[in-house]
Amino acid sequence: MDFLSLAAKRRSVRSYSAKPVEEEKLKACLEAARLAPSANNRQPWRLIVVKAPEIRAKLVEVAGGQRFVGEAPIVIAAVALDPKRLMRCQIPAYAVDVAIALDHLTLAAASLGLGTCWIGHFDQGEAKELLKVPREYQIVALTPLGYPAVGEERPRSRKPLDALVSWDVWS
Ligand SMILES: Cc1cc2nc3c(=O)[nH]c(=O)nc-3n(C[C@H](O)[C@H](O)[C@H](O)COP(=O)(O)O)c2cc1C
Repeated sequence: MDFLSLAAKRRSVRSYSAKPVEEEKLKACLEAARLAPSANNRQPWRLIVVKAPEIRAKLVEVAGGQRFVGEAPIVIAAVALDPKRLMRCQIPAYAVDVAIALDHLTLAAASLGLGTCWIGHFDQGEAKELLKVPREYQIVALTPLGYPAVGEERPRSRKPLDALVSWDVWS
């Protein structure tokens, strides 16, 4: 599948089947994340692959009761290792770096018929405690990873390009 078709196909999946994810597919998704670019090539992140049912069940609570988070056989937590570092442009590098890596992962998953859903609605402190993440790091996002339960969710509408793009200068 070419990239534009893949970008059009990917959507947030909020209903999962219990079908296990093949190890080679999981590894391919992780490899796509590994290949992501990062500021100064620091790769300042670590992914926690959660398979244990009891931890996934607790992640549902940590994520404000979003039940589909625990439906998938895998949940991935994306952890930033350098959350204080600003780029020269004053933007925190960690959020950008982790987002690119996780986006690679979600697109790779879509290309393999797997579903994901970015989860930003979770309690940082509770998630860190549950996953034993050191205090100085930050969990940027979670995503379930698994086979979509039924059919495909309808794509969300998007703003028209004119509302998103200026040419030459701000307009
Ligand atoms: C940073 C971020 C955080 C998000 N957090 C949640 C979340 O906590 N729960 C949820 O159901 N969807 C969450 N989403 C998914 C968005 O709602 C979704 O991407 C958006 O509505 C567009 O739909 P699509 O992904 O199907 O194209 C999040 C997406 C992003 C990028």
